[in-house]
Amino acid sequence: MPFAPLAHVPAPEPGEGPWPRNLTREANGEVALAGHTLTELAENGTPVYLVDKDDMVARAKAWVDAIGEGDVYYAGKSFLTPAVARWMYEEGLGIDTASEGELRTALAGRVPGERIGLHGNSKSDSTLKLALENYIGRIVVDSPGEVEQIATIASELGVVAPCLVRVTTGVHAGGHEFIATAHEDQKFGLSLATGAALEVVSEIAKNPHLKFLGLHSHIGSQILDPQGFAAAADAVIEFAGELAKRGIEVHEVDLGGGYGIQYTGEDPAPQTEVEMIAGIRSALESACDKAGIPVPRMSIEPGRSISGPSGITLYTVGATKDVMTDDGVRRYVSIDGGMSDNTRPALYGANYTALLNRESDAELVPTRVVGMHCESGDIVVKDVALPKDVTRGDLLLVAATGAYGRSMASNYNMVRKPGVLAVSDRGTAWLMRPETWEDVLGLFPEL
Ligand SMILES: Cc1ncc(COP(=O)(O)O)c(C=O)c1O
Repeated sequence: MPFAPLAHVPAPEPGEGPWPRNLTREANGEVALAGHTLTELAENGTPVYLVDKDDMVARAKAWVDAIGEGDVYYAGKSFLTPAVARWMYEEGLGIDTASEGELRTALAGRVPGERIGLHGNSKSDSTLKLALENYIGRIVVDSPGEVEQIATIASELGVVAPCLVRVTTGVHAGGHEFIATAHEDQKFGLSLATGAALEVVSEIAKNPHLKFLGLHSHIGSQILDPQGFAAAADAVIEFAGELAKRGIEVHEVDLGGGYGIQYTGEDPAPQTEVEMIAGIRSALESACDKAGIPVPRMSIEPGRSISGPSGITLYTVGATKDVMTDDGVRRYVSIDGGMSDNTRPALYGANYTALLNRESDAELVPTRVVGMHCESGDIVVKDVALPKDVTRGDLLLVAATGAYGRSMASNYNMVRKPGVLAVSDRGTAWLMRPETWEDVLGLFPEL
């Protein structure tokens, strides 16, 4: 996906756009998070991910309040630590996990197994065993072979495995639009169109070691319009109607995650959680009415919309240079991190914005914020207006990096992965400490 063309505009000020709710500009021009100046927070070393704890928790609670009679599972893939899992659980959310590591992390946060869901298109026997030993609340079945695999492990353990079936609705959504298409050429889910989903649900329903809970659909990411979810709900409920005729009841429909957020000042503000849920629920209810079935319990799996906007990354500026382009001069500002702590711009052309941690009267100039990695695609912010006097040693903060930042981080170029610091007006605490050279070099056998 190409970068969206952005005008050279400065980042919105704290308190606006994509910034965490407790980010403020102090009287001396410095930026502060929950009352801690970024200069003070940078004493922990940079780069560092900062999480506005109260903002993250409030965003989680907003989904729980909006869904009312329903269930919210926080998508741990967006950012998970034991403490985060615990915060979510204490706010009434379950945890959606997509690997054994995420499952172990949620359990380490003392989240009861019954409040955890397990996804994955390639679940190992040992992961399923761990899940069932901990009385997992739901396993999302993703392929025909899993029916026998899960049933065998459940029968060995003497438990009944609760199963949702992930269906491919033919709806794909993302960004500002959605496409309803028959194109189903992807690795996740079981097709409604080919009958694969029907076959798997029928197998589960008659297996004594499995309990069929309902259907799951996930249509994409960064979705700002509930229309895509409505189209998916329509397709899922039409299928639930067919199952009802065969005597199989769908108790629950999980419509997945993918709720969009603002990354830059140009992005539209997303709907509130209440508006989004109201739009989806009314689509679900009218589809049930049409199919003549009772409305099943609704669940969702938001990740980015909880962890994304509450997180920022703080960097220190290194080298700067002015480069001649076809459009004029562009300033390149290098930072002490890059694609290893935020791979999304390189991976799928994601746009971000950046703010200088001080006030400046200097002219605003077209700037590209680039990382320190050995890749020309190592861009963190493609296009932003920053003061011309940005210089080595300045602190720069990048918005909305809380989701899929640390969770997708790498050690590329043998860098140490940054830590994640939770910040509130009560103090600061590491959610993940920064990696040390011992962590990185300790993986090598001694010579
Ligand atoms: C099945 C499923 N649920 C939930 C999510 C979370 O999506 P988001 O973080 O965009 O809300 C994803 C993301 O890939 C997913 O695949």
